[in-house]
Amino acid sequence: MSITSVTNVIRTKLDVRTFSDKEIPWEDKLIILDAGRMAGSGLNSQHWRFILIDKREDLEKLADLSITGKWVRGASFAVVVLTDSRYAWHLLDAGRAITNMMLEAWSRGIVSCICTSYNEQALRNWLKIPPLYAIAAFIGFGYPVKKLLGKKNRLPLEQIAFRGRFGEPIKA
Ligand SMILES: Cc1cc2nc3c(=O)[nH]c(=O)nc-3n(C[C@H](O)[C@H](O)[C@H](O)COP(=O)(O)O)c2cc1C
Repeated sequence: MSITSVTNVIRTKLDVRTFSDKEIPWEDKLIILDAGRMAGSGLNSQHWRFILIDKREDLEKLADLSITGKWVRGASFAVVVLTDSRYAWHLLDAGRAITNMMLEAWSRGIVSCICTSYNEQALRNWLKIPPLYAIAAFIGFGYPVKKLLGKKNRLPLEQIAFRGRFGEPIKA
C-alpha cells in the first residue's frame, strides 16, 4: 500500500492478528517507533518508553507471557509500551502513541494488533522494567498474509455522538 491520506488510513485500518513471515525492514521499525515519539503527551512529558522486541525467541516468550496476545508469536516485531503512572493521564498518552504507531504502520502496508492482557510481573522481570513504569500494552506488527477484506464493525455515529447536550441527536 502506498502512503495514503490520513482519512483513508483511519477509515480502513483494522486490527490484524495473523502475519506473514516476510521480514520488515529495519528502517520501517524505526519509523513506526518514531511515530510513537511524535505523539503529544500531557504537559509534553513524553514519559512513554518503547521496548522493541524483534528476536524470534523473544516474540515467542512474549506470546507465552500474554493472555490475550498469543498471536504475537507470528509477528515480525512487537513494541512494549511503558508509561509513568504518576501522571493521571498516562494511559491516554499511551493510547496516542500507540495509535500513531499503528496508523503509521498501516499506511506502509504493515498490520498490527494491540494486547493489554499478560502476566505483568513476569513481563516486568524479563524485560527489566523499572518499578516506576506501568506496562500499558504491547503491539505486534507484521505484513498481512492475505489481502485484507475485513470491514469495520462500528456503532452508527448517531448512537455515540450528540449535539449540545447528552442524548440530543447529532442530525436534525
Ligand atoms: C484498549 C484496547 C485493548 C485491546 N486489547 C486486546 C487484547 O488484549 N488482545 C487482542 O487480541 N485484541 C485487543 N484489542 C483489539 C480490539 O479487539 C480491536 O481493536 C477491536 O476488536 C476492533 O478491531 P477492528 O479495528 O479490526 O475492527 C484491544 C483494543 C483496544 C483499543
